[in-house]
Amino acid sequence: MSQTVAPPIPSLVPETAPFSPEQRAWLNGFFAGLVSLDGAGVTALSAEQSAALMPGGANEFGDSDDGSAPWHDQTLALTERMKLADGKPLRRRMMAAMAQQDCGQCGYNCEDYSNLIVAKKEERLNLCVPGGKETARMLKSLYEELGKAPAPSPKVAAEPIAKSAPAPSIPSRDNPATGTFLTRTRLNKPGSQKETWHIEIDLSDTGIAYTVGDSFGLFPVNDPALVDAVITALDAPANFPIGGRTLREVLIDGVSLSPAPDMLFQLYSYLTGGARRQKAKALAAGEDPDGDAATLDVLAAIEKFPGIRPDPEAFIEALDPLQPRLYSIASSPTIDPTRVALTVDTVRYKIAKRTRLGVASTFLAGRIRVNAPVRCYVQPAHAFGLPADPQTPIIMIGPGTGVAPFRAFLHERMATKAKGRNWLFFGHQHSATDFFYEDEFAGMKAKGVLTRLSLAWSRDGEEKFYVQDRMREVGRDLWHWLADGAHVYVCGDGKRMAKDVERALVDIVAQHGARSADQAIAFVADLRKQGRYQQDVY
Ligand SMILES: Cc1cc2nc3c(=O)[nH]c(=O)nc-3n(C[C@H](O)[C@H](O)[C@H](O)COP(=O)(O)OP(=O)(O)OC[C@H]3O[C@@H](n4cnc5c(N)ncnc54)[C@H](O)[C@@H]3O)c2cc1C
Ligand SMILES: NC(=O)c1ccc[n+]([C@@H]2O[C@H](COP(=O)([O-])OP(=O)(O)OC[C@H]3O[C@@H](n4cnc5c(N)ncnc54)[C@H](OP(=O)(O)O)[C@@H]3O)[C@@H](O)[C@H]2O)c1
Repeated sequence: MSQTVAPPIPSLVPETAPFSPEQRAWLNGFFAGLVSLDGAGVTALSAEQSAALMPGGANEFGDSDDGSAPWHDQTLALTERMKLADGKPLRRRMMAAMAQQDCGQCGYNCEDYSNLIVAKKEERLNLCVPGGKETARMLKSLYEELGKAPAPSPKVAAEPIAKSAPAPSIPSRDNPATGTFLTRTRLNKPGSQKETWHIEIDLSDTGIAYTVGDSFGLFPVNDPALVDAVITALDAPANFPIGGRTLREVLIDGVSLSPAPDMLFQLYSYLTGGARRQKAKALAAGEDPDGDAATLDVLAAIEKFPGIRPDPEAFIEALDPLQPRLYSIASSPTIDPTRVALTVDTVRYKIAKRTRLGVASTFLAGRIRVNAPVRCYVQPAHAFGLPADPQTPIIMIGPGTGVAPFRAFLHERMATKAKGRNWLFFGHQHSATDFFYEDEFAGMKAKGVLTRLSLAWSRDGEEKFYVQDRMREVGRDLWHWLADGAHVYVCGDGKRMAKDVERALVDIVAQHGARSADQAIAFVADLRKQGRYQQDVY
């Protein structure tokens, strides 16, 4: 007797996308639902949605897009990225509007976030933290193109969601666990211009599991002094009720007090008149009438329009949600699965008389007390992890906080007694004050775990000297490691360092591998394709 077997759900989400197996299963089910051929219960999609989502075309989205993404380079400006995406389907132009970091802070990579917006399955257009207001504005204008077509019928997506929704016990961005803040230790010595902390968080009973290479997401809270200054500037009662909480409580952990969003200026434009109204409207449109737009956090925006008293509830609605921040994990679960370590640089800078505080970094650097709860989750790595073969040599390039995942890699390789050789390039401002984990690395060198340690101090000499300068100096050896099959990893600043390091790598391949410039570029591109050149940059 024959039995009807349901066809397996096709894998539409690439294996490299930064999702847990449960999230991947859910998304595969979700996309499979959207592209199902039987048409049952399907509400007509817009032309753009159909093109983006229905099968039958040259790609799984049914549009003619060839899948190339020349804009997928975080060092390109938004205008350049949009130019490169000109003429592409909306989902691709939306992707180009994102910051191209695939950082996972929004909960997706850039491509999946844009696909879900076009599928009308993600309504929030302000989730791209590195893209900030610029990305949010571009998404908003592109979203208008999506028109008023109805979203796909809930029926279409309901079945797969119900079948494979992630179990509520698995902590995620939308379902964080509660860890316990354990310790903070300053990594710089006195006299340093930097303030970087080694942080440890207890994960016991959280259900959180991680692998080296993953990032750790945590929900910060705003500085209470800043919250109180906002309340004073608003001239509103701190206990004003909003959705069952007080205004102060919502300002502490619910909304971002960093760059003032366009919506806030829009609100102000409704509440005032004349020249002030024009100014608020201009700011809401992304213009900069007084040349100070980049300095306007929420407090500065309120202070720019004194005497206007918006309703506190409307004010809160005009703000962006306070988003979690990600940190590269600096510890190995093989050594202790109940603890996670992070390496956090404290963001503080002054604008006029007021010191601005990075929300999460100053929360970790000082505001959170030992043994206090912290809402957290793991963001699985997006193709960033140790080679499967423990014999494979690895070269790790991580200046500043970029060293974090490499401490984790080394701990893991030490704990698992992996035989592969390990070479670390570390750099920072001054050898005397900024040599993070110096004693640990010395111990690992003595034990033979850290085969080679190459250092670059940018401010010890007359001229700047960076990790890529050190790489060039030892290029011949580096080439030999590559020829032996080494994997190369880069972590840290994505705006300049990662590009400069890549350029150095290409030059080394050309010089010591006896290749032309074009061949060297192709060689490095091939390394990347093989997963032998991986980056975790931000
Ligand atoms: C995958 C990933 C891994 C990461 N790993 C690490 C890590 O291991 N360690 C680490 O320290 N960080 C890491 N980060 C960065 C981290 O997530 C936060 O972005 C960082 O800590 C700042 O967050 P914050 O809340 O403290 O600052 P925010 O409140 O977000 O403020 C930061 C913003 O302030 C502005 N700003 C900063 N300095 C200045 C200045 N001098 N002048 C004007 N404006 C300025 C910028 O707009 C900047 O975006 C990582 C990011 C990603 C995406
Ligand atoms: N989103 C945020 O707000 C946030 C928060 C924390 C960190 N970050 C970024 O994350 C990165 C890591 O920060 P960090 O404090 O750990 O260290 P960092 O600022 O990256 O500095 C680490 C070392 O890298 C050097 N460096 C500067 N430019 C370089 C380049 N083009 N190539 C190679 N090395 C270069 C620095 O030298 P000099 O400084 O002497 O030039 C320093 O010696 C930085 O880009 C930082 O801006 C961002």
